[in-house]
Amino acid sequence: MVDLLLPAATALQSGGHVVFPTETVYGLCCNPFDEVAIRGIYEIKGRSFRNPLTLHISESRYTEAYVMGFDREAVRRLTSEFWPGPLTIVLPKSDNVPISLTGGLPTVGLRCPSDEVAKVFIDMCGGAVAGTSANLSGNLASTQFGDLEEELSGRVDYILSADFVGGLESTVLDMSDGVKILRPGLISAEMIGEVLGFPAEICYDQIPTAETKKYALRAQLFLYDSKQLLEAIERHKGKKLGVVILKSDEAKANEADLREGYLLEQIEVECVERDRYAFLLYDILHRLDRTGVDVILAPRVEKRGIGAAIMHRLEKSAGLI
Ligand code: TXA
Ligand code: MG
Repeated sequence: MVDLLLPAATALQSGGHVVFPTETVYGLCCNPFDEVAIRGIYEIKGRSFRNPLTLHISESRYTEAYVMGFDREAVRRLTSEFWPGPLTIVLPKSDNVPISLTGGLPTVGLRCPSDEVAKVFIDMCGGAVAGTSANLSGNLASTQFGDLEEELSGRVDYILSADFVGGLESTVLDMSDGVKILRPGLISAEMIGEVLGFPAEICYDQIPTAETKKYALRAQLFLYDSKQLLEAIERHKGKKLGVVILKSDEAKANEADLREGYLLEQIEVECVERDRYAFLLYDILHRLDRTGVDVILAPRVEKRGIGAAIMHRLEKSAGLI
């Protein structure tokens, strides 16, 4: 694997920008100590300079070098349970972390991805890279090579592809002052609470420049309660429609009605198992969007566990929050 990753690591070390897979979404990264390369990431994405990048590390033992003055026991418990994995922990930064990487903040987000390619690649780059999701600012992140290639090829120096990247972006947990979940993700509030022994505060989107986040699609996204799919379709009659259907019993009935009552060939349909919804959400939305539909209908789920993260992305993307 090292041979395959060498051109990407070399590109990064000579100031380049590299797209790499993680277990959540594709990331865009550079050398964390190269201020010019860091500025380049903001320019490539069209991202506000106030919105910090995340330090992606290959092993949890590198944490000590980049942060200071934190609750060691609580962080140890969380990292031994969830790292490597989709949890970003925000802590007071040490002097080793350039302020340009943190958007001027005294804190830094640390993330240790579990994807094997990511781990080896980051290791080859010295154990840490400055990273962010590989998408233009405001757009939905990519879990498919084709989607990110369309968006970023020609703008970056190297793209590392993977067989499968699937999920929502990591949970962002701020432990620099209390314990706050800034962004829900695959590691749920319930899971974090269980490890800490007390509930984390929910502070979604109290992140720098949260107002610019949109998870935007070309089509307009509307959410529906799964029992009311037909009503939702009726409401958008005459438009080119893309529909996401959960493969549960009740959705099966909906699908049958759909086939009977409407010309299914005029509607793009994507079916997904309920427990794969979070992992495949971005892939499905991108796929429907690419077909050129005007409107995408996606089912709401209960805001519990991973459902909180799914609904957060859907409500943002639909412009509801
Ligand atoms: O799963 C992920 O986290 C992906 C993969 C590529 O690692 N990365 C990702 O990066 O989603 P990005 O930049 O799209 O989202 C990171 C979020 C941003 O909303 C940022 O504002 C927040 O984390 N963040 C990073 N450092 C922070 C800090 N010091 N204080 C508060 N929020 C921070
Ligand atoms: Mg992002």
